Amino acid sequence: MLDRADNSFVLPPEIDRRRTFAIISHPDAGKTTLTEKFLLYGGAIQMAGQVRAKGEARRTRSDFMQMEKDRGISVSASAMSFEFKDFWFNLVDTPGHSDFSEDTYRTLTAVDAAVMVIDGAKGVESQTRKLFEVCRLRDMPILTFCNKMDRESRETFDIIDEIQENLAIDVCPASWPIGVGREFLGCYDLLNDRLELMDRADRNVIAESVEINGLDDPKLAEHVPADLLEKFLEEVEMARELLPEFDHQAFLDGTLTPIWFGSAINSFGVQELMEGIGKFGPKPQVCPSDVRPISPDESKVSGFVFKVQANMDPKHRDRIAFVRLCAGHFKRGMKLTHVRSKKVMAIASPMLFLASDRELAEEAWAGDIIGIPNHGQLRIGDALTEGEILRFAGIPSFAPELLQSVRATDPMKAKHLDKALTQFAEEGAAKLFKPMIGAGWIVGVVGALQFEVLASRIELEYGIPVRFEQTQFTSARWLTGPKENVDKFIDGNKGHMATDHDGDPVYMTRLQWDIDRVERDFPELNLTDVKTVMV
Ligand code: G4P
Repeated sequence: MLDRADNSFVLPPEIDRRRTFAIISHPDAGKTTLTEKFLLYGGAIQMAGQVRAKGEARRTRSDFMQMEKDRGISVSASAMSFEFKDFWFNLVDTPGHSDFSEDTYRTLTAVDAAVMVIDGAKGVESQTRKLFEVCRLRDMPILTFCNKMDRESRETFDIIDEIQENLAIDVCPASWPIGVGREFLGCYDLLNDRLELMDRADRNVIAESVEINGLDDPKLAEHVPADLLEKFLEEVEMARELLPEFDHQAFLDGTLTPIWFGSAINSFGVQELMEGIGKFGPKPQVCPSDVRPISPDESKVSGFVFKVQANMDPKHRDRIAFVRLCAGHFKRGMKLTHVRSKKVMAIASPMLFLASDRELAEEAWAGDIIGIPNHGQLRIGDALTEGEILRFAGIPSFAPELLQSVRATDPMKAKHLDKALTQFAEEGAAKLFKPMIGAGWIVGVVGALQFEVLASRIELEYGIPVRFEQTQFTSARWLTGPKENVDKFIDGNKGHMATDHDGDPVYMTRLQWDIDRVERDFPELNLTDVKTVMV
């Protein structure tokens, strides 16, 4: 979505101060804890523990499903907005489990930057690497937070080397840790020449900060024991020789990441990271569309749906479409054109997500994420504008890796199952295929856990117990080409054909050999594993 080459536009102050980002990490690295501390510093919650209700709820309140809590995974993404100093932060929560990578991908299309959290003892873990690769596809700027420095962790240089080598990105230290594990004292803020000391006694207060006049300042010795100071000074000298300096453009281009060291649970290093997000940005970026790049300072409002979530509140059967505003100043009650249907929608109850609460959004600006309640009109990828017919660069939909048929254990409920499945397909929670021959549905997902999540949601939200079963197919590919050829192919291969929930034809098979054969024998047709959802 981003065109970082063109940063020349001057933004209205309200847009200029917006920072829209996501946190990416491997489970357990500390994403929830860091989110909680962001909200704490942002004044969105009063005390740590509100997001993570101790003992009872393991994850942030954005994870509303019991199953997520039970399993300790975060399946659904949501947004949180809060102010920090002069900035307005929109933090979009990414699902933490690798099975939900498509959802994560979509989430990342709605942000301008990512904070990568790594565990100081574990370094770059598998899930971090995967998510990083997704960010890299879009050259997204990344800020790194090395967490859990209060525990025994790796040598600072080892951590930095691992990131550089493993992720092929330059790393510039924004702070440098002094001591490690039990001896961890705090960090030296290399960008602001400050010594930040950690207060282990109170995890919710802002730690002490000492103004220092450079590394020769004798005040350093007053706070840091001689042996630690010596090691620290040596390391910083080496770091300055060996590691790149901070280069703002390289950061914006996604080729260099600044790294902060800290301990989220001790609220340590979090503020400096937030200041970094504020200072380095990026501010809301240009969104490409099929007509022209949409600059955030355009006066007309436009945005796109990157996520649809149904039944957020079991008491209200509502659907929330999460919209990233790309341009303009949105006001409640505005009439926006839903480009796909060409219908005008009055946006009467837009929502902002403040920590765990939703609030009516009286206004919002480019960069913001708003929630629009609707009855199913809004789908992932849909554009909303003040009348202009344009499409934002599509959000891709990936072919599922696992296929299973689904049926209601109570045949009387089969009809309601159609409705539930269609809704989950529109929400992007699964791919839904209707075979051209025979009855029933085939559901496609990326990871096996999604079947369980779906079964549980269908039962919970619709009261329909279901069973997933093996099918004869293992692969699905979208079929495109000249209409005449497509129709002819469908006629001759009905047993392999299905339609997805948009009605587009899909070829299904068990054998890669079949796919190769179709590609060889029908050169005018395409079988693709990615479909770009266009509006
Ligand atoms: P996640 O969302 O990335 O999965 O991680 P989460 O924040 O849930 O943190 C995972 C575990 O790591 C939690 O411990 C959390 O308290 C701990 N943790 C987070 N930040 C730090 C830190 O800076 N230092 C240390 N030492 N630990 C940290 P838990 O035992 O799983 O949960 P809980 O009993 O603390 O709630």
